[in-house]
Amino acid sequence: MTHLSKILTLSALALTLGACSNIERSRNLGNPQVSGYTLAQQVCSTCHGGTGVNNNGNAINPTYPNLAGQQAAYLETEMQEFHDHTRRDPAARDMMWGIARDFTPQQIKELAAFYSKQKPLPNPASSDPTQAAAGQKLFVEGSLEQSVPACAACHGANAEGNGPIPRLAGQHADYLYKQLMAFNGDVGRENHPETQERPQGVVMESISHGLTDEQKHQVATYLQSIQ
Ligand code: HEC
Ligand code: HEC
Repeated sequence: MTHLSKILTLSALALTLGACSNIERSRNLGNPQVSGYTLAQQVCSTCHGGTGVNNNGNAINPTYPNLAGQQAAYLETEMQEFHDHTRRDPAARDMMWGIARDFTPQQIKELAAFYSKQKPLPNPASSDPTQAAAGQKLFVEGSLEQSVPACAACHGANAEGNGPIPRLAGQHADYLYKQLMAFNGDVGRENHPETQERPQGVVMESISHGLTDEQKHQVATYLQSIQ
């Protein structure tokens, strides 16, 4: 090998290595080669928590839902909905539509698998035990007189979720409350699903509608406080 060709080979190698490590640090949401894991570390962690330390998908700011330990099937559905613009509450529009625009089916699968396997971090004890106790009663028993079924019947005794039914345990109360309001607001627009914020949450509409505003707060407070 001549001196020159050696240099050329080495620089080609450096370029290849450079490209390789770049793709592992890529924030490029438009490149289908970027893995779900890389997106989680480089993009999602900004809002949903994580990066290197053992807190992936545990968001500090309650605007951003925790993804750690969430059901994989539910995560896939939601990512697909952001991609397709069917979930269209204001925060979803503002923050998730752009992120999900170029998701490939493979990236969705990898992201869902990754976050479903992360460990949810314990929460501080509830600051309002009376509200939390009232919320627990609603969660476990529902309310017969308001025709509200027990949340536990679908979301599981420990609010751990099941496949397409989301985990609610340890989720930020502010976020949960906001979603209950979104389902509530969708009532009566069934014939025009294109005007609904969460058209796939049909089962949640009458349930949310049956709860008073205070009860929504109570159940959200309880759910945030459990692991
Ligand atoms: C700029 C901040 C931001 C970034 C970055 C971001 N998200 Fe989100 N994400 C949000 C917000 C805000 C919501 C809640 C939307 C709402 O209130 O409906 C959300 C909701 C979600 C949900 C629905 C959770 C649930 O319980 O229904 C999933 C899944 C999700 N994001 C996945 C991701 C993934 C995967 C990435 C990275 C590829 C990502 N997000 C990056 C802000 C962000
Ligand atoms: C019949 C089954 C069923 C019952 C009972 C039920 N849920 Fe749900 N819930 C669901 C399903 C399914 C979804 C997912 C909807 C979607 O994909 O948009 C959901 C979604 C939610 C969400 C949104 C979570 C997120 O991460 O965005 C909240 C909050 C919620 N339920 C709270 C409750 C509460 C509180 C109760 C009891 C008062 C309850 N649910 C009872 C089936 C149920």
